[in-house]
Parts: sequence; structure tokens; C-alpha cells
Amino acid sequence: MVHKLSIQDLPVQGKKTLMRVDFNVPVDSDGKITDDTRIVSTLPSIRYVLDHGGSVILMSHFGRPKGEPKREFSLAPTAKKLSELLGKPVIQAEDCTGSQVRQLAQALKPGEVLLLENLRFHKAEEEPDSDPSFARELAQLGDLYVNEAFGSAHRAHSSTATIAQYFPGKAAAGFNLAKEIAFLGENLLHPQRPFYAIVGGNKVSTKLGVLKSLLQKADALFLGGAMAFTFLRAQGLNIGASLCEDELIPQAHEVLAEGKRFGKPIFLPDDVVVVPKIEASQPADRVVSLREGIPDGLMGVDIGPATISRYSAELQKAKCIFWNGPMGVFEMPQFAKGTEAIAKLLARLPATTLIGGGDSLAAVQHLGLGDKMTHLSTGGGATMEYIEFGTLPGIEVLSNK
Ligand code: 3PG
Repeated sequence: MVHKLSIQDLPVQGKKTLMRVDFNVPVDSDGKITDDTRIVSTLPSIRYVLDHGGSVILMSHFGRPKGEPKREFSLAPTAKKLSELLGKPVIQAEDCTGSQVRQLAQALKPGEVLLLENLRFHKAEEEPDSDPSFARELAQLGDLYVNEAFGSAHRAHSSTATIAQYFPGKAAAGFNLAKEIAFLGENLLHPQRPFYAIVGGNKVSTKLGVLKSLLQKADALFLGGAMAFTFLRAQGLNIGASLCEDELIPQAHEVLAEGKRFGKPIFLPDDVVVVPKIEASQPADRVVSLREGIPDGLMGVDIGPATISRYSAELQKAKCIFWNGPMGVFEMPQFAKGTEAIAKLLARLPATTLIGGGDSLAAVQHLGLGDKMTHLSTGGGATMEYIEFGTLPGIEVLSNK
């Protein structure tokens, strides 16, 4: 990030800073925020502007409302949470463009914070070309632009990418965005070795690119979660009714073959907890060895004890570990043992540990182990794409120093 402007390079005094944040936070069925890490991560940048005599206009998306205003995707609960965290009122706009928003922005005084309503209530946020005036209207609200939304920096959307053209020499990175990039750059592009990567979660399809890229960078890969079954199937093992992306079996083969060619081990589960159905009432008392195969009608929902022991023994040798994606259906406590074991192991290892956002971050926080990890990334997809491509659209558009 040394080549991009930082928020500290901007003349914020007496100016309105338009700041893209990622308040796409997890909520429970009552809409209550269950993890405020992403909101907390923006506080230093917001406070910096306020303490230096400026005002802040925050813009964010929340969920995927598909271009229409929907009550359940309102940022109102977030405004309340932010106000508590900042210890000052947060003015809320009913929309992110239009006359009411313009008036609120014009009237904003130094020291004040305005939060716009969900950007994704407008189709043009995610499809900038469908209406270029959307980015222009957003841009007209502020004098300076800051991207403090690392979690969304992989999206080339109106508020993360198109908008920067209206702020030549005035589009900067927020503190958290710069910290994320510096950490990932230093530790993943030139990691201490052995460097091991643990990848879990549901889908191979969303992680294939990053798996290939990790295979180049890491010394070994450890796979878990539902995505491991596509690889187990590719090895000719019987996976019963476990989730499998059949169309990706050839690609999984390729990854396994590449691992062999580069001499990089790819660890796959030896045993898994199986159930006939993914239901909260199902016990986790049946473990099947993959060598024997999963019987028809049963599916794997967590890594088993033998896998936990083998992964743990190997991971202890690492100097640097990257982890993205749970090892099982961790939302149900009885199937969270594998994910918890990995989280607890990483928390006590002396290695550099980087948790790559999303569900693994939630699992670590839930266990109260956040402060035992070297770095908790606020990005899910963004972290993965940064590893894959070495940069992101939301970073590229910022002004050079
Ligand atoms: C995320 O949670 O990864 C970011 O907020 C981006 O959200 P999206 O995947 O809906 O674009």
C-alpha cells in the first residue's frame, strides 16, 4: 500500500469525507448483530476524520437485497450500534441518493457522522454500467473519498470502484484497509516456512482459484468442510450422500495431481462424522473411515477424531498458517468439534496465524480466541481474491502517492 494515498494524506479538516465501509455484518433471526468486528474495524478511520475537524459520510451495503429497498436489509440497526461504539449520534439517511440525502450531506458539520441507507437498494451499485449517474451522485455528497471496506474491495461496484474517478488525487485507503493489505502482503506473499493453508467450507467452485494459488504459495494444504468430498470422490472413495460438485471432479483431480507434481502434500479427511440428514436433532455419534467409505444415504458433516489428530500433528510444524472455512456444519454445536479443534490448536501454536474472514472468523470469535490469533481478516471473499490475484479492484482505483 505504500504506493497508494492513506487517509492521513488527505486534508480532512473542514471537509466532508465520503467513506465506503463494509457493514455487511452477521445478524441473528431477530436482526440483532452477532459480530461487530467489521464495524469496530472502521472506528479508527472515522475517529481520525472527526478528531481532525472533518465530518464523515458513511456508505455501505448489507446483504443482497437485489436492487430494491427491503426493510430487513436496512442499515438502521447498524446506525444504532455504531452510535454506541462511537459514543455520539449517527445521523441516518432514508436512502443513499436523492434530495433528502443531499440536504443532510450539505448540512453536515465538522464532528458529525451521517450513515447512508443500504447502497444495494439500487441496482446500479452492483451494476455500475446500468446507471453511471449513481456513482456520480454519491460522489457529489463528499469532498474526499476513503475506502475502508476491505471486505468489499474485491467488488468492482459503484461505491468501491467507479466512484474513485470523481476524486482524482483525493481517493485514499482507510487504516484498516491498509493494515489488511500490509499484513497479507508481508505474511502470505513472503511467508515464513513451513507455510500451511487450511481450507474448508461448502463449495469447491468458489475456492478453486484460491486453492490453485495457495498450492503455489503454501507448503501443504489441509482440506475440510463439505468441499473436501469433491476431492475424496475424485480419489475414487465412496462419499455416500455427502455434498459433491460432480462437475468439478476433473478440476479436483488436477489440483491433486499438481500437488503431487510440486511435492506439496494435500491432506484430506481420513474419517468423518456422518448423519442421514443435516438437522439439529441429529446426534454426532457415528464416525466412518473414508477408507471403508461412507454408506449410501449418509453424509459427512464434520471431520472425525483421526483426522483431527493427524491434522493437528502436522500443523504443529508450521511457522505460518492461513485458515479459511469451517471443517463441518459448525452452526450446529454437535458438528462443530473439528472446527473448534482447529481454532483451539491455532490459538496455542507459536506460528503466525491468519484467519481469512467469514465463518472461520465467526467460529474463532465465538470461542473467544480472537486475541490469540495473529491476524483476523475482515475480508472473506476479498482475502481469498487478494491471495489469488495479488491486488483488488477497490485498491487499484485509489490515488497513487
Ligand atoms: C462479504 O461479506 O464478503 C462482503 O461484504 C461482500 O459481500 P457480497 O459477497 O455480498 O458482495
